[in-house]
Amino acid sequence: MAGLPVVDFHSHILPRMDDGSDSVETSLAILRESRASGVDLMVSTSHYYRRNETIESFLARRSDRLGQLLPLLDGTCCGIIPGAEVAFYFGMDDDAGLDGLCIGDTRLLLVEMPFQSWGTYEINTLSSLCFDRRFTVILAHYERFAEFQKGNRLYEEVLELPLYVQINSGSLTSGPHTKKWIGMFRDGSAHLLGSDCHNLTSRPPDLIRGREAVGKKAGEDVLERIDRCAAALLLGEKPRRRSL
Ligand SMILES: [Fe+2]
Repeated sequence: MAGLPVVDFHSHILPRMDDGSDSVETSLAILRESRASGVDLMVSTSHYYRRNETIESFLARRSDRLGQLLPLLDGTCCGIIPGAEVAFYFGMDDDAGLDGLCIGDTRLLLVEMPFQSWGTYEINTLSSLCFDRRFTVILAHYERFAEFQKGNRLYEEVLELPLYVQINSGSLTSGPHTKKWIGMFRDGSAHLLGSDCHNLTSRPPDLIRGREAVGKKAGEDVLERIDRCAAALLLGEKPRRRSL
């Protein structure tokens, strides 16, 4: 859309940071391929696992990897906004260091929920992150948890919290439920798109394919709403979540 950046809100593009890019060369290739396809900004959301390391250690590693990559960027590459994909952990809402994992200079926190049936503890923790800690929570790839939540009312009820929902572009172009996920963008219950790219092959930077699916099946106005939402969130605003 004119004037609005195209943002990939979920990616693993830092070299040797997690199970994403395996080298500086791969990182540059991803950034160039994305830029050539029409993406302006990539939010770099490296995995953070509390069981593996402290937040301080993660941030030091991330700073080192960014330091390797940033001097090499040129006009053929997407811009990078540092962040994290924070895997849900017990007591995370009491962790004072969590602020350091927010995206850029915002209060945006991308949370990867457990790959199991969610209970009241998980929902209460998200609620605490939203209301007590005042994070703007983004649920990473909401659609990937569906198979673990069959019959679990909390999977729908979590959407009543004042949080935002990110869906992977690949889930809009293949798989049995593409209509359902595109429908969530249409009705305003999903808000952000990410490629969740890890490499150039098996998990590539395919944001544009997902955008094309949204534009074609839900309409260009829905695509524009996604872009407006992404831009507003990165500016620290809290855009309206529902279109209805
Ligand atoms: Fe991811």
